[in-house]
Parts: sequence; structure tokens; C-alpha cells
Amino acid sequence: VRLGAGRAHGKAILLGEHAVVYGAPALAVPVPQLTAVAKARRVGGDGPDEISFAIAGLESPEVTSLPTDGLQHLVTEFRQRAAVTEPMRVDVLVDCAIPQGRGLGSSAACARAAVLALADAFDRRLDAGTVFDLVQASENVAHGRASGIDALATGATAPLIFRNGVGRELPVAMAGSARLSDPAGFDAVLVIADSGVSGSTRDAVELLRGAFERSPRTRDEFVSRVTSLTEAAAHDLLQGRVADFGARLTENHRLLRDVGVSTDRIDRMVDAALAAGSPGAKISGGGLGGCMIALAGDRRESAAVVRGVRQAGAVRTWVVPMGRFAGH
Ligand code: PMV
Repeated sequence: VRLGAGRAHGKAILLGEHAVVYGAPALAVPVPQLTAVAKARRVGGDGPDEISFAIAGLESPEVTSLPTDGLQHLVTEFRQRAAVTEPMRVDVLVDCAIPQGRGLGSSAACARAAVLALADAFDRRLDAGTVFDLVQASENVAHGRASGIDALATGATAPLIFRNGVGRELPVAMAGSARLSDPAGFDAVLVIADSGVSGSTRDAVELLRGAFERSPRTRDEFVSRVTSLTEAAAHDLLQGRVADFGARLTENHRLLRDVGVSTDRIDRMVDAALAAGSPGAKISGGGLGGCMIALAGDRRESAAVVRGVRQAGAVRTWVVPMGRFAGH
């Protein structure tokens, strides 16, 4: 094979961000409508390695020169893990429709799409664990120490719970429009709203590291309260208890706001979502900007939430299913 293709999608963290870095569980949901698609084209000849990477975003349709350190590292790791002995002469183009710096998993999705495209181009079959390791290696270069939740969620087809590097997809049914006949499910959708401000996850993680070093007690309380909330929320999700699940989202928002990773605009967006009837809302991901998420009973209810958060400053919104989707 000379031309390979790969695909991955964005993600949103429902509960547990930041605490997951300190061993708490986190809950994330794949966002199927935000995709990264990669093509790997092997160039002929048997000269030395020649690898070129380009990332094109839908936001800036021209090919950008985004930092690709993580992706370059990925190729080296790929050569080792996939036992490639021939020279790696390949052009990789990633088309990323996931906004960057919004906690939506753009870097992990680009890396995952690139790994799958490379494997396809070099005719290697990689198991799920190897794909995860390669994406995670690239994430570690791009972001410092990453928990691994993005590396996993960008390839998941259902909500997943993640703890200490290990993730498990939850057996929930597709939700969104009709009443669920399967009791293990969730009759709700998620509104994701972009505050229009990009937040640096690395900065937010550093901010908390400093604060927690000064006050280990704050860290312990934060981690233990988020752990309880996330575990309870996973049960609510499985049992279809929308109102309880929502209340835990909002409570997790308060904890994240109190440790200092929210912003005024996101706080206003959370208030607006709740005022519009959402059962629960919170900041999502690294924070210091980025996105907020709000639960909505169904797609009709979500329209009121979308209007509310837009009035409060959201620059764009997505409505995503909470259940399993078909995958790529
Ligand atoms: O990639 P983001 O911005 O959704 O956030 C990552 C979640 C953190 O818990 C803040 C960091 C991590 O590595 O888990």
C-alpha cells in the first residue's frame, strides 16, 4: 500500500478533568461530528527517511505550520513499534475540523488519525493498545504529561470512564431523539459551547500543580470530592437518571471554579444554560477558556440552552448524542 487513510474524532470531558491527573476517575464522551482525517502517502525511492507533516484546519483552510513536534515524535515511535525496517519516506496530511485549544481533543485526534494512516500506508495491523501508546507518546511531547484520556476518547464509540491510564467504555444505548427502549441508556443530549477563548491545558495543569503543592489539603479534598461525583455520575448515566447526573455536573463545575480554572465568561454561560432549563452544566477540559458543556433532555430542549449560552457569549455550539455511535 502506498496511500493510507485514518480517521478519529473529538471528545468532551463530562466530569473529572484535572482530578484525573491525581488518580481520580474521569468520564468523557466522544464527539462524532468533529473529525480529524489523515492521509499518508509514501514517496518513492530508497533514500534516507523523509517525513513531512502538514495540518490543515477547516478554520484556516490553508495548510498551516502548526507545531508538529508531537507528530514527528510519533513517526519515530511508529517505526519502532510497527517494526518498520525500510526507510520511512512519507508525506502525512491531517485535515482537522476540531477547533484547537478548546479542550475538544484536537491534538490527540490528529495523532490518532495520523497513526492509523501510517499503519495503513505501511500495511501494519496495530492493536488498540499500540495505537493508544503511540497517540499518548505524541500527546506527552505536545502537552507535557497527559493523563491519556484524550488518546483513548478520540477513538471511542461510547462514553467512557478512565482512571490511572485505563479506560472502559460504558454499555449505554444511543440517545438523543426517541425514548429509549433499552433501560441502560440516557435520554439526553449534550450541548457543547465554545467560549471563543483558547485555554492552555498545560498552563492550567501547572497552575493547579503549584496551588496543590502549597496546599496538599486542597488537593486531597478536590480529588476526593471529584472522585465521588464522577463515580456517582457514571451510575446515573447507566441508570438513566438525567436530573441527578446534571446536578453532579454543576457541582463539579463549582469545584473547578473554586480551584481557579474557570473564567467569567464560562461561569456566565453555565448560569445561562441552567436558567434555560438545563439539568446541569460545567466547564469542560483544561479550562482557562475553552468550552462548557450543558445537558439537555432532548434536541428540542437543547435549542433553548443553545440560545441562552449564545446570549451569554458562546461563539459556537454543537449538540452531540450521549450514547453509542456507529464509529468510523
Ligand atoms: O485536553 P483537555 O483540555 O480536554 O483537558 C485535559 C484534561 C486534564 O485533566 C486537564 C489534563 C489531563 O491530562 O488529563
